Amino acid sequence: MGIWPLTAQPAHSVGGVRLAEIAEHFGTPAYVLDEEHVRARCREYSKVMAPHEVAYASKAFWCRAMARWVAEEDLSLDVCSDGQLVVASAAKFPADRILLHGNGKTQQELSVALDYGVGRIVVDSAGEAGQLAALAALAGRRQKVLVRVTPGVDAHVHPAVTTGTEDQKFGLSIASGEAAHVARRILRESSLELAGAHCHIGSQISSLDGFETAARRMVAFMAGLGGLPELNLGGGHAVPYRPGDPGLDIAAFAERIAGAVGQECAAHGIAVPRLTVEPGRAIVASAGVTLYRVLTVKRGARTFVVVDGGMSDNPRPALYGSRYHVERVGSPAADHTESMIVVGRHCEAGDVLIPDARLPRDVGPGDLLAVPATGAYHHAMASNYNHFTRPPVIAVRDGRARPLIRRETDEDMLRRDVG
Ligand SMILES: Cc1ncc(COP(=O)(O)O)c(C=O)c1O
Repeated sequence: MGIWPLTAQPAHSVGGVRLAEIAEHFGTPAYVLDEEHVRARCREYSKVMAPHEVAYASKAFWCRAMARWVAEEDLSLDVCSDGQLVVASAAKFPADRILLHGNGKTQQELSVALDYGVGRIVVDSAGEAGQLAALAALAGRRQKVLVRVTPGVDAHVHPAVTTGTEDQKFGLSIASGEAAHVARRILRESSLELAGAHCHIGSQISSLDGFETAARRMVAFMAGLGGLPELNLGGGHAVPYRPGDPGLDIAAFAERIAGAVGQECAAHGIAVPRLTVEPGRAIVASAGVTLYRVLTVKRGARTFVVVDGGMSDNPRPALYGSRYHVERVGSPAADHTESMIVVGRHCEAGDVLIPDARLPRDVGPGDLLAVPATGAYHHAMASNYNHFTRPPVIAVRDGRARPLIRRETDEDMLRRDVG
């Protein structure tokens, strides 16, 4: 998998639509999303994981159109808030294919999930197990649940996205016995059905080793409960952001994990569970390209290229030190380039989008820049910092461009400002 959308002519067009045309028509900054790429990734995952389950992690990017694409491609769905559930419901996403996550679900969220009839709720604490049991009993339902387990695996990724170790907020520890304790409690609740166990060890993981260790530990944990029908191994599959970055080989993942789970189940004498994976980034990241207009170029000890967006449309460099590739639209991939820093226009020195860009020497005001691999956790993490309005998401397919999410307006912001 590369860094550009499947249908892209890099830094020129996506989905048969010229990037320059999108910028002229919809303005900048703008997120461009390749529908064909998203659908192709869904199909690829379904194929390599069959007969197991693939659930799209909607925190990566979410809107009603995306919900329809995911539903049409027969994937299941991971949501982690009642807000994501609202979108799923508005798009009529089949409730029985939805999993609800969250380390601090509100009572309102649990009630909305029960009302909507979500297939599985992933329980993250003893308190939540009791609360959900009571709510399900009140609603006259028997709710399927998974128990979220901390397998004690360090995926060696950024600390902010490390979620399989003991010293972070998600899940119930196998090592301390808490996971088994809560699982047994769930087994005693008549309004709950323990369907399986879940773990998610982190994000942007390109090596298979951590996934395999986690899978083996999870099977051992499930064997301690006499076996369970489902094992959900979360998401976190890496994608390249810059040329040459490693991505997770999903065919190799499927083969190795299914093999390891099969071996462990045989060793423990339990039936092989149905596996679920929950990729978010790996479905949608490389489907997206962000377009910026250059506002000014400041030359001094270093060359700063100031664009019309920044940390409010892409907080990842500031949050995680994430690195990106950038090209000028319309420039042939780059002879006569020099090292430059692409910065945003927010009132913060840390508003650096790309500290080590290589752009044509003559880059200047009005030029259009394209940053690939920006389909996941970009619009989803965008903010109004400095009262910037959030950019639109423009879907492209078969030579047509259409907005999925319109540009936010000043009126949108003032409407919330009610004091
Ligand atoms: C429980 C769970 N599943 C899936 C994902 C998706 O991760 P990614 O987009 O890295 O695949 C996350 C990300 O935080 C998660 O917490």
